[in-house]
Amino acid sequence: MSGPMRLVVLISGNGSNLQAVLDACHAGQLAAEVVGVISNRLDAIGLERARRASVPALALPPTKGQPRRGYDAALASQVAALSPDWIVLAGWMRVLTTAFLDRFPNRVINLHPALPGTFPGTGAIEQAYAAFQRGEVTETGVMVHLVPDEAVDAGPVLAQAVVPIEAADTLATLEARVHTTEHRLLVGTLIGLARQAEGEKLA
Ligand code: GAR
Repeated sequence: MSGPMRLVVLISGNGSNLQAVLDACHAGQLAAEVVGVISNRLDAIGLERARRASVPALALPPTKGQPRRGYDAALASQVAALSPDWIVLAGWMRVLTTAFLDRFPNRVINLHPALPGTFPGTGAIEQAYAAFQRGEVTETGVMVHLVPDEAVDAGPVLAQAVVPIEAADTLATLEARVHTTEHRLLVGTLIGLARQAEGEKLA
């Protein structure tokens, strides 16, 4: 790997995690460059965040009736053209098939707002909050993991952090705590990967 680590970030919505990564790059905390942002939704606020940071941003909504593997192959071509070292799924709310994943083995990272093995899919924070109300859990968390296959929000864990749930929490206060934690965990994980790559270069 020569030069700063190249990141392609895939998003579907707000992009607050993308923003945390952009800010860390800008501040020189993270030796990486976001070389492209792609959204499956036209209206993703994160596209605007990318443009504001002068990062190429592309909306790639699936066309009507497009087979999932066809979409994933087209997405993979767009991503490959950006020559990424890592592809970061930061609020990418679409399952990727092997038509995408097999192009980038061990290079796709997902962020999920729950601990490994818990609350996969959408609405993980709501699910944890409801489980807390039922007395089933006392905490939730955040994880960053590799995406080897089509399993949803599962794969070798790179980092995780526990987020306590307080009796006084509303869904909004819990969401805020989870989001703060995930911004930190995602950036921290990427800093670790950049340092590892730097170490390999020097070795
Ligand atoms: C984040 O909480 C992320 O962990 C979650 O979507 C949110 C996106 O927020 N991802 C998943 O639930 C993946 N299953 P953001 O657009 O503000 O970064």
